[in-house]
Amino acid sequence: MKHVETLRWVGDVDGCLRLIDQTRLPVEFAEIDCRTVESVWEAIKMLRVRGAPAIGIAAAYGVCVGLQTARDADEATRFARLDEVTEYLASSRPTAVNLFWALERMKRAAPAVRGQASTDLAERLLAEARAIHEEDRKICRAIGRHGAGLLADGQGVLTHCNAGGLATADYGTALAVIFAAAESGKNLHVFADETRPLLQGARLTAWELQQRGIDVTLICDSMAAAVMREGRIQAVVTGADRIAANGDVANKIGTYGVALLAAAHQIPFYVAAPTSTFDLSLPSGEGIPIEQRDPREITHGFGCRTAPEGIHVYNPAFDVTPADRMAAIICERGIIQPVTRERIAQVLSMPQEGG
Ligand code: MRU
Repeated sequence: MKHVETLRWVGDVDGCLRLIDQTRLPVEFAEIDCRTVESVWEAIKMLRVRGAPAIGIAAAYGVCVGLQTARDADEATRFARLDEVTEYLASSRPTAVNLFWALERMKRAAPAVRGQASTDLAERLLAEARAIHEEDRKICRAIGRHGAGLLADGQGVLTHCNAGGLATADYGTALAVIFAAAESGKNLHVFADETRPLLQGARLTAWELQQRGIDVTLICDSMAAAVMREGRIQAVVTGADRIAANGDVANKIGTYGVALLAAAHQIPFYVAAPTSTFDLSLPSGEGIPIEQRDPREITHGFGCRTAPEGIHVYNPAFDVTPADRMAAIICERGIIQPVTRERIAQVLSMPQEGG
């Protein structure tokens, strides 16, 4: 399989962020170079780069790009610019907490080089962005290792949206569990929900699984119930955009419905996500901000009008699945089971695994 790099930094501190334009997949494999912070913001907003961990990594590199214009300025101006670009990038999408987590990390990295040359700040920020990127690779592998044992040989596994390599540094979260189980010799059959309205399941997950030689069947979102009833699915695995302290999970719209269907058919529903996706400041999922997107994504999917002119549209990009619907949450530190506030607090306070 061709090695696919979702995003990468090209060059040194004067370089740029290169990413796969995911809006063009699977028809076209095209990469774009983001040389301004505005282009990074646009790439996140328009879902050229998407998926919670990948958004965080892109934003971290976006800070590096944004600081390039202040290279020759005095220190106060450079630090003011840092505040400006982090605030600006934080306005690109509201739900995936990895975005805010990564931007916070970038801001925390800067004071160490106060009083030093301008290039020191640029180098410090690039080093931090690279570290966030590199850590995510290891985290994905650890999630795969921990989760692989939850899937058994011969099972049918349903996934929703795309929580694969395209959504992370390279191996995915939900798909990492599937990849790792497959690499350990288990034969799995994956069902990919197409994931209306933007079809991340059809365009990205189906493509990614096919590229990696995993047996995959694409279904419309509305088919999941019937496919479960037919006995074709023994486990569901999805990713997450934000997990509250009690284990409520925000993920792509439709995930909640899939979780309810899984419960109705006694099928375990697993969520796979890095610890950077937890937001312990929120006691429950009620406080998770849900992104509302352009109605045209529903009325004019992929350029073709499919609804009457002037129709009212509601287009939340995410929903919240209550913790009590989950069999387990898989993170890089292990398996959180049962999904309770206490167990989450316990696992998140464990020392970080080496990767
Ligand atoms: O709108 P998107 O495509 O960014 O939504 C992505 C998802 O909902 C993913 O499941 C989630 O970010 C986890 S990615 C590892």
